[in-house]
Amino acid sequence: MNVPYFDLPAQIKALRPELDAAIARTLDSCAFCLGPEVAKFEREFAAYVGAAHGIGFNSGTSALHIAALLLGLGPGDEVITTPFTFVATSWALAYVGARPVFVDIDEATFNLDPALVEKAITPRTKAIMPVHLYGHPFDVDPILEICRRHRLPLIEDAAQAHGARYKGKQVGTFGELAAYSFYPGKNLGACGEAGALVTSRADFAARARSLREHGSKERYYHEEVGYNYRMEGIQGAVLNVKLKHLLTWTVARRRIAHRYHALLAATPLRLPREAAWAQSVYHLYVVRHPSRDRLRDHLQAKGIGTALHYPLPLHLQKCFAQLDYKAGDFPVAERAGRECMSLPIYPELTDEQIDYVGAMIAEFKGW
Ligand SMILES: Cc1ncc(COP(=O)(O)O)c(C=O)c1O
Repeated sequence: MNVPYFDLPAQIKALRPELDAAIARTLDSCAFCLGPEVAKFEREFAAYVGAAHGIGFNSGTSALHIAALLLGLGPGDEVITTPFTFVATSWALAYVGARPVFVDIDEATFNLDPALVEKAITPRTKAIMPVHLYGHPFDVDPILEICRRHRLPLIEDAAQAHGARYKGKQVGTFGELAAYSFYPGKNLGACGEAGALVTSRADFAARARSLREHGSKERYYHEEVGYNYRMEGIQGAVLNVKLKHLLTWTVARRRIAHRYHALLAATPLRLPREAAWAQSVYHLYVVRHPSRDRLRDHLQAKGIGTALHYPLPLHLQKCFAQLDYKAGDFPVAERAGRECMSLPIYPELTDEQIDYVGAMIAEFKGW
């Protein structure tokens, strides 16, 4: 049997008639940059999250960059964030010249450890930017409490967590700003690059719209240096189609995760577990074990695709060498990088495929 790590063609095939019609509508209207489909998606995605405003971008990275600008972050400023994430979380800070101040993660959720955040605050700290990694919320309340005590804004990187809930409330609604990615492999993915910001602040929303469009509210009049970060019309049209399926897909991902939990409970693997306050959307199903590499080879030989998220934490990446971190600074993140492995999880995965993954892991003898 073959179990690809990810099977986007299966999803696209099932949606082809709807996607063809949506793309055809855009070809007819020629609303290729922003336009009515993007505006509709911005409204509906914000409503889905429970936020007042949604602003579409050409990527999640651009959305995070604009979030950093909206908060006025710049050279000399420090932002507390996680070293265990996709690099784009910290790009937002690098782009504006601010310094990412990494804090280690919590063993159970792989997210920023709230117990370590306060010690990292200095007079230069200007914001806290955790990530809802793998679709599992970070522990929002203690971090919000620290934000309140120190009057710091919270930016949520919700790029992997469309629809995840913390104590029953959707992530993306706790911070001043939250950024989403619609990269094709995300739980809600475009047919190309796309991202969004959501916020409850009308002033942020208005400035974000201007910054994504060359710093302009009125064509050819530019109030500040801006960017070309517009969402494409075709991506808005595609996302309007896919948003209608998101809830069903999330239910399917959660069901698959529960099937894996049951199948793998007796193996030596450490399995992802939801915190009592969390409802994860299982963007990834990440297991861990020190023999990860051998297990990965074994699964590959059996036709099962896996992936690593993420093998090298950000503080050890060459691009951040100037921050002067060293191996050993964040032991929990470093160990996670050595031990974590993502198993296939997507709504189209069949029970036979899931059971096959379980059986092949059970068969592994090289622990
Ligand atoms: C945690 C995280 N932050 C930011 C991004 C950046 O999003 P994009 O790829 O849409 O630029 C991603 C996704 O790739 C991500 O996983």
